[in-house]
Amino acid sequence: LKILMAASECVPFAKEGGLADVVGVLPKHLARMGHDVRVVMPRYKRIDRDRCGLKELPGVLVVPMGVIGNQYCSVWEGRIPGSDVPVYFLEHEGYYGRDGLYEVNNEGYLDNDNRFVFLSKAALELPKMIGFEPDLIHAHDWHTAAIPVLVNTTYASDPYVGGKATVLSVHNMQHQGNFYEGLMDVLGIGWEHFTFLGLEKDGEVNLLKGGIYHATVLNTVSEGYAREMQTPAYGWGLDGVVRERAADLYGILNGVDYDDWNPEVDPHIAARYSAAELSGKKLCKRDLQRTFGHPERDDVPLFGMVSRLVKQKGVDILAEAIHRILALDVQFVMLGAGEPWTHFYFGDIRNAYPEKFNIYVGYNNSLSHQIEAGADFFLMPSAFEPCGLNQMYSLRYGTLPIVRATGGLDDSVENFDEKTLAGTGFKFWSHDAGALFDTVGWAVHTWYHRKGAMEKLIANAMSKRFTWEDAAAKYEVLYERALRKRLGARA
Ligand code: ADP
Ligand code: GLC
Repeated sequence: LKILMAASECVPFAKEGGLADVVGVLPKHLARMGHDVRVVMPRYKRIDRDRCGLKELPGVLVVPMGVIGNQYCSVWEGRIPGSDVPVYFLEHEGYYGRDGLYEVNNEGYLDNDNRFVFLSKAALELPKMIGFEPDLIHAHDWHTAAIPVLVNTTYASDPYVGGKATVLSVHNMQHQGNFYEGLMDVLGIGWEHFTFLGLEKDGEVNLLKGGIYHATVLNTVSEGYAREMQTPAYGWGLDGVVRERAADLYGILNGVDYDDWNPEVDPHIAARYSAAELSGKKLCKRDLQRTFGHPERDDVPLFGMVSRLVKQKGVDILAEAIHRILALDVQFVMLGAGEPWTHFYFGDIRNAYPEKFNIYVGYNNSLSHQIEAGADFFLMPSAFEPCGLNQMYSLRYGTLPIVRATGGLDDSVENFDEKTLAGTGFKFWSHDAGALFDTVGWAVHTWYHRKGAMEKLIANAMSKRFTWEDAAAKYEVLYERALRKRLGARA
């Protein structure tokens, strides 16, 4: 198949969260299966043309932006490392020549509507420029959710993309791209689509809603979240729309890039180790304690967390439970950045418990590997989690995840069974500080008093695999469904 994939993030070029991991890895696997995949994304300022080996394509891409008028951009071509998958970078100084992807100092850019409508439209103009007629267009999240709408409307008779099958992957229902109604005139798709049965939500344009309505098929990144997003508690106001599309909605759990996340070969960590030979993990723990200035002790359980520090990730209930957790004989290391209050709050916790708690505020890939390797437990108390990647990394590193049983966390972690010693981690259901604390306490008790059970859990965890081969094969089935459905619609 010829697949055009459009997204706002892609590793190794630009990453804020797991979306980038998916867009960087899935195309590689699809290409290995024989598909011709092309990725299109913005060239943000942080993407260095020389370092990424980008080459400029001849010509200029003209993108009609409705009432704003035509916008022009140059297109630079690169490759996803370790593959032949082309990535087309849209270079538009006005939209993308800035420091952040979406925001600066925690404030979203005020023109994110135009920036990402531009991305969506440019993605649809690109095929003409590069002479590539896709069989199917795959969009991700609200940033490119306008694509399925445009393909069915403004671009319906475009020779390259008109009426093509579209797939929309929803990685997060919270972020929907809702903007003032005037955006309709930038989209240029006619006000008849600004209705309850289209792009309109609460008097605004809601790009994700439009995408959910118009995509040929939809998916999200776990089966659990595919069920949850149809409920008011998890649907962020769009659960009704999702329920309407339930017949075309699939859950496909993300995979892990085990070339990158493998303690047997990981260059970021202090010592390599495997399920058969775990002694290196002890060295990693010491190294992590040193890095965070904690006493170097083998005889204390070490908790790790790597996360965007936002409410989705349960930082509020952790903030409430942390004093009780640190009253136990434990150590805790945290890596992340996010809502400003978390930086102050957890900074104060560090000052109050200097021997036990430390936080590194910021983004640091190497350190995230060191935490996965050095910690005994990995905490993910998420309010919701469409998939989540770190719990899967943790399993591979023999670092037992402690998770709230939601979405992909529930699907990928099996709860410890005291009797059979089955399981790969510790789960709680109720999203509150009490349940979190009780479960941390359960893990701490197990660590101190049931060494045999811990060894069994670690072995169970390290034997689990969530491969991209499996996930990509499911996307292939999804693409075929979309094509069949589109053919049916034409017949
Ligand atoms: P989300 O996309 O909601 O943030 P995921 O679990 O899918 O959650 O993906 C998060 C990704 O970002 C993981 O690869 C994780 O290791 C990484 N990550 C998050 N925060 C940091 C950080 N501060 N430093 C390094 N890596 C981080
Ligand atoms: C989103 C979700 C996360 C998921 C990631 C990649 O950012 O919050 O759970 O793993 O997308 O699909």
